Amino acid sequence: MESNSSCDLTHLNEELPVKNEEKLKLSNKEDDQSDIVSLRLLDLTDVDDFMEWFGDDNVSKFCSWDTFKSKEGAMSYVVDVAIPHPWFRAICLNGKPVGSISVSPYHGTDKCRAELGYVLASKYWGKGIATKAVKMAASAIFVEWPHLERLEAVVVVDNPGSQRVLEKAGFKKEGVLRKYYLLKGKPKDIVMFSLLSTDQQVTYFM
Ligand SMILES: CC(C)(COP(=O)(O)OP(=O)(O)OC[C@H]1O[C@@H](n2cnc3c(N)ncnc32)[C@H](O)[C@@H]1OP(=O)(O)O)[C@@H](O)C(=O)NCCC(=O)NCCS
Repeated sequence: MESNSSCDLTHLNEELPVKNEEKLKLSNKEDDQSDIVSLRLLDLTDVDDFMEWFGDDNVSKFCSWDTFKSKEGAMSYVVDVAIPHPWFRAICLNGKPVGSISVSPYHGTDKCRAELGYVLASKYWGKGIATKAVKMAASAIFVEWPHLERLEAVVVVDNPGSQRVLEKAGFKKEGVLRKYYLLKGKPKDIVMFSLLSTDQQVTYFM
């Protein structure tokens, strides 16, 4: 993967975000309207939209969960995992859920850190939506959880698209951890990324 310092603020300044929603110019739009990326809580009425990524093998192959084969499975996930989760949001494009993003806290002596995760329905890839969502989540979480020092993200080495998202969002690449966890039963090398509450990029996101 090409080296690209996440501390390069010139690069970050190319796409300054706004607070609760972000205007995004999609390259294939014919008119001059900007699309809006926003994050919001989700509920069971979103399940049909959620199947767009929960039901997609291209999305799940880098995720701990398996592709959902039925709407009932997705409903159970929403009820049992997403709704009770401490910080789980739908990524919306012009109000329609097109993906999801979560921040999972650690506890006890590790409570200074939390882990970021995100997925997007494959037909929306490559438009900068995940990068906007990551910036919005990062700016929100350091305000909502003032005890949080470090937001980290763990990406398998063979997922360069997700690594690029984190680089563009200002996360620092810390290194490769070998055989860090099992993905679909196979041990995987991962790249560890982090953003600290004191990193200058965080204030640019607010
Ligand atoms: C990873 C994911 C969230 C990215 O969403 P996205 O909205 O397409 O991301 P963005 O458009 O903001 O940025 C993607 C960047 O990765 C780059 N990219 C994509 N595929 C790539 C590849 N195979 N090699 C190198 N770069 C790649 C894009 O060119 C873009 O960079 P650029 O703006 O410099 O051109 C989406 O692909 C996804 O949901 N994948 C499946 C689930 C997943 O991997 N989740 C993350 C688990 S850690």
